[in-house]
Amino acid sequence: MHALGIDIGGSGIKAAPVDVATGKLLAARQKIATPRPARPDAVADVVQQLSTSFSWSGPVGITFPGVVVNGVTRTAANLDPAWIGLDAGALFGQATGNPVRVLNDADAAGVAEMTFGVGIGEEGTVLMLTFGTGIGSALFASGVLVPNTEFGHIEIHGEDAEKRASEHAKELHDLSWGKWADRVDEYLKHVEALLSPNLIIVGGGVSRQADKWVPRLTGIRARIVPAGLLNEAGIVGAGMATSGGVAPDTSGSTGTGH
Ligand code: BGC
Repeated sequence: MHALGIDIGGSGIKAAPVDVATGKLLAARQKIATPRPARPDAVADVVQQLSTSFSWSGPVGITFPGVVVNGVTRTAANLDPAWIGLDAGALFGQATGNPVRVLNDADAAGVAEMTFGVGIGEEGTVLMLTFGTGIGSALFASGVLVPNTEFGHIEIHGEDAEKRASEHAKELHDLSWGKWADRVDEYLKHVEALLSPNLIIVGGGVSRQADKWVPRLTGIRARIVPAGLLNEAGIVGAGMATSGGVAPDTSGSTGTGH
């Protein structure tokens, strides 16, 4: 089965058609900068452009960087607050004229990694963390996703963890790899104390340079492995969400908006 996967991020919105059975992209992905402000109508315009650019007709899976329950976006820490409480499934269904499924971005990336990446066959507790504009989390027990965990927002030194240890925080505060890795290590210690995962998969843009920081994460018992699908995980997981089965349906399915 084929689906269009669209990954909405803080800086870019990426899309490609996905073969859901193999996790392979069927065409080169396209990327458009996330509009600023990232208001729902502006983002829906980009989603429409991307869908049109592939002349897409069929299921569309869309990731969102916040909590998504039954297609409704419940939080938007790094996007415009107008998303909170919005029926994003209906909005995107109308924009694309296709059946749409919306889910959290880290959940999508995690499902893709568990099925086609470094999480294949992992039976214990697995935590996927994505380091980007924020910190996203996806938690798996025996391969089953617990959707909408928000471990990027645990408090460290009275501050939201993602404000200290996301990739964005590294850039904003001009932190060296060593200084930033210390913050990530401290963050992972907190997370490990709460969840005792067997495996932590680290993803997001910075996982491309994993050799610069993952070896410095020395205070953690769990195995730490960089994501295998790198920047494609969100798109692949978005596509997979349209066929249900692997990802539990918390995302809500909408019609075409007609
Ligand atoms: C959001 C999460 C999201 C993560 C990565 C956080 O600020 O609350 O839902 O997964 O950023 O985009």
